[in-house]
Amino acid sequence: MNKTKREILKIGIFDSGMGGISMLNEMNLLFRGAHFYYYGDIANSPYGKKSKEEIVNLTKIACDFFLEKKVKAILLACNTATSASVKLLREIYPIKIFGMEPAIKPAIKENPGEKIAILATQFTISEEKFLELGKSLNASDHLIPFPCEGLAAMIDRRDFDGVKKFLKPILFEIEKDATAIVLGCTHYVLIKDIFTELAPKLKIYDGNKGTAFHILNSMEKTADEKKENTIEVYLNGGAEKDYEILKFFLNC
Ligand code: DGL
Repeated sequence: MNKTKREILKIGIFDSGMGGISMLNEMNLLFRGAHFYYYGDIANSPYGKKSKEEIVNLTKIACDFFLEKKVKAILLACNTATSASVKLLREIYPIKIFGMEPAIKPAIKENPGEKIAILATQFTISEEKFLELGKSLNASDHLIPFPCEGLAAMIDRRDFDGVKKFLKPILFEIEKDATAIVLGCTHYVLIKDIFTELAPKLKIYDGNKGTAFHILNSMEKTADEKKENTIEVYLNGGAEKDYEILKFFLNC
């Protein structure tokens, strides 16, 4: 019998810190027999206030790390890194590069004419990609961008008291005007429960599930469908406490 060895589907998942774990959790639910490498750039986190050039260079380092591991695809599980570099990386790397996009489309569709707040880093909100998305959906007047500088760093430290203090006044403002919020940063998806607790009336949208399905549908089915996934994590510059925090956010 001609037994061809099935290749394991290796996928690299990248973020500036812990945020991409929200995507790793989603992918782990959807895929079977895959091997996930996670790279969190704790040494340089957060990315939200860095220049485009800095973000591109740091993201390239992570992509080179994944290439050495012979991954089939890379997910930039970071809206900020996606905004800064996905176009360029797709031109220079010979494998599939996926990125994140704030879930503005479903939020607009399900809340026509309503105001929608977009929470993301300063970088994501100021980038062309975000502005173009609003324009292409004819929704710019309905979108209220809220840069949340500092929030990702608090999540990386698991400082939930700090997170609540930071978010309370912002959500209070948003609730006056908007019916929904879009979590435009993968870090914020890790604390969805806190958003629900502080602003129960607001509908919450994120792009995680949609992105995970999109990746699943774009990949060839080379993995063993019956096998559990395996996960390897690497935190650049991470100390023991950072790995503990990562474990806390990982749902497996
Ligand atoms: N997880 C990030 C994002 O989606 C990064 C936040 C940051 O490093 O400032 O935008």
